[in-house]
Amino acid sequence: MITDERDSKIKNLLSFVRVRLLMPEDLPALEWDGEYIHFRRLYADIFRRYEQGEGLMWVAELFDSKVIGQLFVSLSSHCSDHSNDNHCAYVYGFRIRPPYRNQGIGTYMMQVVEADLSQKGFRFVTLNVAKDNPNALRLYEKLGYHIRGYEPGKWSYIDHQGKRCEVIEPAWQMEKELTK
Ligand SMILES: CC(C)(COP(=O)(O)OP(=O)(O)OC[C@H]1O[C@@H](n2cnc3c(N)ncnc32)[C@H](O)[C@@H]1OP(=O)(O)O)[C@@H](O)C(=O)NCCC(=O)NCCS
Repeated sequence: MITDERDSKIKNLLSFVRVRLLMPEDLPALEWDGEYIHFRRLYADIFRRYEQGEGLMWVAELFDSKVIGQLFVSLSSHCSDHSNDNHCAYVYGFRIRPPYRNQGIGTYMMQVVEADLSQKGFRFVTLNVAKDNPNALRLYEKLGYHIRGYEPGKWSYIDHQGKRCEVIEPAWQMEKELTK
């Protein structure tokens, strides 16, 4: 098995990355060797919605089949500014494993996902970015997203041990109109 450290030194990493839809056997990899085990039930719920056609789960895979990134899409999002327009998708759960960041993989993932949504007839993409995450905010602005509001970011989930966990993550709501 190739290590994270060695992978991170490979030049032109992007040419070895494939962005594809998640398969059931990828689910354990989303736990990142235990760091995100608390999201096991949440991911299982998201996967159920994906199976029912209400969302999409994307992964970025390295040449040795290692999952190094993830991005989820809700296809049933309604943008308040476009209440008559149900062609609005919501992106969340976007994460690249640390050794692979700042090499263009996140940008590439977003481009693949946006192209897919555009092809499916979606006109708008929305997402939330935590107010204390300037790096992600800068990336989204570079990709053409603009801030359209503020979200208190209160939500909860049931962890892998059955305990309810509350999250408070004040966030900017961002939006982008996809080009045809
Ligand atoms: C946000 C996140 C998904 C971005 O993924 P990424 O793969 O690092 O994104 P990119 O590499 O495409 O872009 C990040 C930066 O690297 C730069 N970059 C892109 N390709 C590069 C390359 N080959 N060499 C050097 N820098 C590069 C980009 O220009 C961008 O620069 P900036 O910091 O000035 O904006 C990732 O940082 C992450 O997982 N963060 C933690 C979780 C998180 O915050 N998720 C977002 C929640 S809203």
